[in-house]
Amino acid sequence: MDMAFLESSIGVEDLVLLEPLEEESLLKNLQLRYENKEIYTYIGNVLVSVNPYQELSIYGPEFIAKYQDYTFYELKPHIYALANVAYQSLRDQDRDQCILITGESGAGKTEASKLVMSYVAAVCGKGEQVNSVKEQLLQSNPVLEAFGNAKTIRNNNSSRFGKYMDIEFDFKGSPLGGDITNYLLEKSRVVKQLEGERNFHIFYQLLAGADAQLLKALKLERDSSGYTYLNREAPRVDGMDDASNFKALQSAMIVIGFSEEEFRQVLEVTAMVLKLGNVELADEFQANGVPASGIRDGRGVQEIGELVGLNSVELERALCSRTMETAKEKVVTALSVIQAQYARDALAKNIYSRLFNWIVTRINESIKVDTGEKKKVMGVLDIYGFEILEDNSFEQFVINYCNEKLQQVFIELTLKEEQEEYKREGIPWTKVDYFDNGIICDLIEHNQRGILAMLDEECLRPGVVSDSTFLAKLNQLFSKHEHYESKVTQNAQRQYDHSMGLRCFRICHYAGKVTYNVNSFIDKNNDLLFRDLSQAMWKARHPLLRSLFPEGDPKQASLKRPPTAGAQFKSSVAILMKNLYSKNPNYIRCIKPNEHQRRAQFSSELVAVQARYLGLLENVRVRRAGYAYRQAYGAFLERYRLLSRSTWPRWNGGEREGVEKVLGDLSMSSEERAFGKTKIFIRSPKALFYLEEQRRLRLQQLATLIQKMYRGWRCRIHYQLMRKSQILISSWFRGNMQRKRYEKMKASALLIQAFVRGWKARKNYRKYFRSGAALTLANFIYRSIAQKFLLRLKDNLPSTSILDKTWPAAPYKYFSTANHELQKLFYRWKCKKFRDRLSPKQVETLREKLCASELFKGKKASYPQSVPIPFYGDYIGLQESPKLQQLKGGEEGPVLVAETVMKVNRGNGKTSSRILLLTKGHVIITDTKNSQPKTVIALDSVARVSVTSFKDGLFSLHLSELSSVGSKGDFLLVSEHVVELLTKMYRAVLDATQRQLPVTVTEEFSVRFKESSVAVKVIQGPGGGGKRKLSCKKKGSRCLEVTVQ
Ligand SMILES: Nc1ncnc2c1ncn2[C@@H]1O[C@H](COP(=O)(O)OP(=O)(O)OP(=O)(O)O)[C@@H](O)[C@H]1O
Ligand SMILES: [Mg+2]
Repeated sequence: MDMAFLESSIGVEDLVLLEPLEEESLLKNLQLRYENKEIYTYIGNVLVSVNPYQELSIYGPEFIAKYQDYTFYELKPHIYALANVAYQSLRDQDRDQCILITGESGAGKTEASKLVMSYVAAVCGKGEQVNSVKEQLLQSNPVLEAFGNAKTIRNNNSSRFGKYMDIEFDFKGSPLGGDITNYLLEKSRVVKQLEGERNFHIFYQLLAGADAQLLKALKLERDSSGYTYLNREAPRVDGMDDASNFKALQSAMIVIGFSEEEFRQVLEVTAMVLKLGNVELADEFQANGVPASGIRDGRGVQEIGELVGLNSVELERALCSRTMETAKEKVVTALSVIQAQYARDALAKNIYSRLFNWIVTRINESIKVDTGEKKKVMGVLDIYGFEILEDNSFEQFVINYCNEKLQQVFIELTLKEEQEEYKREGIPWTKVDYFDNGIICDLIEHNQRGILAMLDEECLRPGVVSDSTFLAKLNQLFSKHEHYESKVTQNAQRQYDHSMGLRCFRICHYAGKVTYNVNSFIDKNNDLLFRDLSQAMWKARHPLLRSLFPEGDPKQASLKRPPTAGAQFKSSVAILMKNLYSKNPNYIRCIKPNEHQRRAQFSSELVAVQARYLGLLENVRVRRAGYAYRQAYGAFLERYRLLSRSTWPRWNGGEREGVEKVLGDLSMSSEERAFGKTKIFIRSPKALFYLEEQRRLRLQQLATLIQKMYRGWRCRIHYQLMRKSQILISSWFRGNMQRKRYEKMKASALLIQAFVRGWKARKNYRKYFRSGAALTLANFIYRSIAQKFLLRLKDNLPSTSILDKTWPAAPYKYFSTANHELQKLFYRWKCKKFRDRLSPKQVETLREKLCASELFKGKKASYPQSVPIPFYGDYIGLQESPKLQQLKGGEEGPVLVAETVMKVNRGNGKTSSRILLLTKGHVIITDTKNSQPKTVIALDSVARVSVTSFKDGLFSLHLSELSSVGSKGDFLLVSEHVVELLTKMYRAVLDATQRQLPVTVTEEFSVRFKESSVAVKVIQGPGGGGKRKLSCKKKGSRCLEVTVQ
């Protein structure tokens, strides 16, 4: 076997692929998977489910979603996969479906049916209406479980009735409603339970969950131990909360559509059943000594009467007596205690089972589909499995009968179908033998010679009838039947079997041999309720109770016997079979891994038994006898076409040709495969594994390829997108930037333009501005002020005398510079005018005065006095005296100065008068008496002149030593007009020799005198000013001190 393929699954997921195919390997495979919590395994399309007895995290919305999206073989085996196949083929192929869930008690049938329902509810249509239908269908479970389930030794929540539920859908696959059929409630449980078992859940739920007020109204007590019908031993079940289940029941009933009143009535009837159990019967004796019975304590009956509106006396009578009616007369007989107890229990059982039927009918009313449109139906059958108890009675007999029938369906639809498929497909093949249980079914149900028919016959037969007569009849009829055994038949065959009781018969069911005890077969089949009781019940005022016993109505009373329980069951099984045959079956085979309801415990023996009677191995064998695997060409091609280059990725030819191509390319041997009309058949699992392995490898390759392509594609797309985006962004950005720049430039240009224009405009219009006006005004005012100022000045000009220096002040400070300039101008103009008027003589005079000023102004104290005095020049009357004129000698030109001077003797300091003439070329000094000149000095011999700064007239003529007169030494003279004399001399020297005569103003100087020099020192005498008086004093030979007074 290919191990790689096994790695992904635990064991094999489909038993068809099991190798070697033996019971042992099959069990091993189941066990291996079970131990790894893989509770589901396929046999083809049959699901084998092993009860995990623990919560597995493989259910719920995610798993539902997953299984919804995949086909059957793609995921691990799961009940959801099966439900999905059924629902999809119902919805898409319009085939009504049935899901047959079989298995022993506790194998997980009910759980499986709930899982299927919840799956379908989750995947089918949605909407308010649809949801409420779904809710009603789902909520029917807790109600049915409360009334129909009980704790048994095998299963804490054992369904004590068979259930078949049709869920009806519209053409879209949305649920419309449903219909529930119940089979054979185990009503004996109402009055008696085995050790360790309980009565139906509802009793415990009611006592635990009802509030005190309700309990009081129902006249019940909370303590369950006070009720005879409730087994004292096991009031509690682990993991089951009766009180909260009661609440759930209540809300479920409301959801389904029970009214509050109906709910209450149901509880009242339930309470009545409980209370009936507590009615104690006691011996009484009639007058004739015949034993009779009576009620020991009237209170219970009283309370029942109050509860359901029944006369307690009548109830007592009905319980303790029996009316026999024949055509002619009515006979009332008293019942013994045993009989009365039997009657009471029969009543309780009947009330309860009728109540149960009523509830089912009531639920059906709610979930019934009204519309007349065509419906699609999915049936779910959750029915008791094959039962082999220690003591098997009528119930086990019918249950096992039902299972025989179901096995028949299974055989018909699966095994036969398989063989017929080969025929249909035209595949040559050898027939596989399998056990056909038709013979057993016949043994039980044959209309004339079946066990049930015999039982009915016994029940109806007049005369003494008992279970023993019934057994005798069977022994007689089936002495040769290969599936029937009893002590009698064994004895006849000389077999010794101490396990077989005398009152027993044994049937070799397909699932194994079961020994039934015939005790109470007749009674149970009759299922009679004394008419007194049904009539009494009918008389109750309680509407529900009353409606449960329609035959109690005297008007309806018929003497015709109702059908026996066996006959009823047979007919309902027949209806069920018909129903199932009309639908496409889906099988769930539930297996119980151990007897102890324990997790992770796998009892091979127990499973082997179940596997045997479920016919699992046969199932696998038949499926594999010819070909382990088959698939329609289309689906097969779809799955494997990737294995051939011709069919992958595209195939345009027919499906069959495609499959041939694929298998041809894989060079699969012709023995391994067969081509049917519509399907391809693969013979060995090995070949299939090979195909799968190839597919897996190819898938990996393809996945890589797809990945590669996809990644490349994605990157390309991504890159292109990015590029596009980048271009877009950059174009936007650039555009935006340029636009912004342009806007900015435009704005700037406009701004500049505006400024320029504004500036130009302003410039043009400035003159019109107010601010310009101010300037103009100011200018105007300023001009007018200036004008005014000038005009006034014109009118008020000072005199034209040059000595007059007055000038009007400026009226404003800012005219002061201009005013000053004007003053200067005016003055200059005045001077010019004055100068223009001067004669040349006057000019000459003024020049002399100017020269004097240059020489002495500020240097000599006598200068200021000389200024106003005109220079006469002639102070000795030279003009009038010719004698004096002679002194001039022959020299041309006028005499510039003629005056009398004092000559200071340099030797002694004494002064003597002399006449001094200054001509243009000479200085002539003459004695006053003498008419001849004494000394004539050429002007160019005069080197320099010294004067004092005082007011005196002393001056010294320093002669150049080279000249002829100079040898006599310098002259020290005193003149009255020393300023005039020296000025004229200076000018004459300048004219004659172009030399500036140095005039030194000093108080100490030296004069040459006969080859030596005398220092002259002039001192200011104390007289100051006044008369110019001079006194010279000789100090030593070389110093002369002159004192000026
Ligand atoms: N799939 C499952 N997952 C978990 N627990 C399960 C599963 N199936 C069954 N069980 C457990 O097994 C118990 C018995 O199951 P269930 O009631 O479905 O048995 P059954 O076949 O209906 O028995 P009966 O014939 O007595 O009604 C459940 O109460 C539950 O605890
Ligand atoms: Mg069940």
